Amino acid sequence: VAVRAEAGAGGGINPAIRKEEDKVVDTVLTGELAKPLTAYCRYGQLLTGFPFSLCWRSGTFPLCDGSHVKHNKATGDNVGPLLVKK
Ligand code: FES
Repeated sequence: VAVRAEAGAGGGINPAIRKEEDKVVDTVLTGELAKPLTAYCRYGQLLTGFPFSLCWRSGTFPLCDGSHVKHNKATGDNVGPLLVKK
């Protein structure tokens, strides 16, 4: 399986999000506090295996802001958000 790694300097996948951090980690609350539907910019698939759908282009990371649409049109890629439903 080939992973696209052109985005970041040195071959990483993160082009610009929170580069000052050693590791970008986010926690998602579930249960009664959760919204009915939330779209998250993809970033966890490298931990779990397939599919290798990575974006890291959202201006509102970890939430999806639709930036994947522009990326897909420019590159022919097919990345999209992780939808979490209550
Ligand atoms: Fe990254 Fe939508 S902006 S998945």
